[in-house]
Amino acid sequence: MRLGVNIDHIATIREARKTYEPDPIKGAIIARDAGADQITFHLREDRRHIQDSDVEKLRAVITEIPLNMEMAATEEMKQIATRIKPDRVTLVPEKREEITTEGGLDVVSMKEYLKEFIKELKNSGIDVATFIDPVEEQIKASLEVGADAVEIHTGEYANARSENKRFEELKRIKNAAVYGRSIGLKIFAGHGLTYTNVQPVAEIEEIEELNIGHSIIANAVFLGLDEAVRKMKKLINEARRKHT
Ligand code: PXP
Repeated sequence: MRLGVNIDHIATIREARKTYEPDPIKGAIIARDAGADQITFHLREDRRHIQDSDVEKLRAVITEIPLNMEMAATEEMKQIATRIKPDRVTLVPEKREEITTEGGLDVVSMKEYLKEFIKELKNSGIDVATFIDPVEEQIKASLEVGADAVEIHTGEYANARSENKRFEELKRIKNAAVYGRSIGLKIFAGHGLTYTNVQPVAEIEEIEELNIGHSIIANAVFLGLDEAVRKMKKLINEARRKHT
């Protein structure tokens, strides 16, 4: 199972003071060297963390492992993506007032628009994933609009307040992963994953990649980024080995 490390929150700290440190590019290099299989970043419309110049630098520096750009399906973002050419684009919903990405993309209601949008990204040689809730119609629609993969939103699972709810949400993720794989999509997952809740998701064999940001960067304050990435990677590998 691959681990994509989301470096946005290194830039969040930098932007709190509008200074030059901590540098998310340096963070990407440390994460890569600690075993991250991919670097993920979200260029938001309001540029609250990652800036356009970061994107240019990331593309220049991160060449050994894939670069995954999360973005809203807007004309501006498409122009940037087709110029920078990340290895993958993950299409996410975006609202200015939200603290982080809330809920999955409603692919069903944007089908015609997304078909054209995704075709242009793919014509530039970029793989495309949609970030969706664990709902069959959204997964089916993702295949129909030409996505290569879906990333299942694990936020409801991560935020569950009771064991029952957590179990229920995990089952939804598992069912969505099985369904997505059965129709030929690659399956990824992420959002809200931490050292304490990652393993049950990592055990779902249909999921081949997790994208994790906030918890790793938060733990890096105490552990250092290198150790924070290694610890997550170790937990994922342990959970995965149970099934092989
Ligand atoms: N995957 C996607 C599509 C996201 O938008 C985010 C948050 O930027 C993540 C994964 C990582 O979520 P978290 O920061 O909660 O680990």
